[in-house]
Amino acid sequence: MSQPDLNRIIARVEDLPTLPRTVLRITELVNDPKSSARDLARVITDDQVLAARLLKLVNSSFYGFPQRISTITGAIVLLGFDAIRNLLLTTSVFDLFANRKRISEFSQEQFWDHSLGCAVGAKVLGSHLRYDKVEELFVSGLLHDIGKIVEMIFMPEQFSKITRLVQKENILMFSAEEQILGYTHADVGRLLAEKWNLPPKLISVILHHHRPSTAGRFAQEAAIIHLADIFCRALNIGSGGDNKIPQLDKIAWESLKIKTEALEPLIAKTKSGFDDISLFITYTP
Ligand SMILES: [Fe+2]
Ligand SMILES: [Fe+2]
Repeated sequence: MSQPDLNRIIARVEDLPTLPRTVLRITELVNDPKSSARDLARVITDDQVLAARLLKLVNSSFYGFPQRISTITGAIVLLGFDAIRNLLLTTSVFDLFANRKRISEFSQEQFWDHSLGCAVGAKVLGSHLRYDKVEELFVSGLLHDIGKIVEMIFMPEQFSKITRLVQKENILMFSAEEQILGYTHADVGRLLAEKWNLPPKLISVILHHHRPSTAGRFAQEAAIIHLADIFCRALNIGSGGDNKIPQLDKIAWESLKIKTEALEPLIAKTKSGFDDISLFITYTP
């Protein structure tokens, strides 16, 4: 990316949306080793909408708890702080973008499904690999393409040009952005993630999801998101704005050490996980 281009998007960072105050407060609490489940429950219960969503989600078949969870404290104890923070982040993020200007070639509903599918795929892959923080992978999958939404809102004309070029030449959005902007949704997403003070791992995964082997110490996480992204396209879950399946990064694939025969069941699990969770988190414009 050239310097003037980078400066131009950095200049826009001030205009980028901020996270709702409750989510920020929750992030602070989660990062504070002295905070308790009760402190966290208090903040969540103050926000009725968030509290209701959280209970609906923890009781969904996606989590598969045998008993009904009826209190926020109960949900926190069962799922843990990080998972709760991530779930709330998940359900809040897309609200930020509701009722914005629409670009006809780009379906936000399809995009939401793509993001959610990728989140599920990343969690499925993480569990298979016995990765210890699968909830983080879920959020990484959910946010990996968030830069596209920022482009749609803040550069509608260029974004239209990009989506038209994607359709005309049947290329990846990533390539069309490189041609038209000189940078991509990965760079833009990184700026948003930095503005939101998201953890370095998440920032890195967003920045490197198309070139996972350049992600340094977070190469494994980036490789997982890269593969989950490919799963969703193979399964036709939603659309990230183009119809092309990104080429599998060979180094990333080899680094994950997944046996070829494990792939089919993992893809099937992603599909059923997506079907379960999409009943509970739906995109409402
Ligand atoms: Fe992407
Ligand atoms: Fe994607």
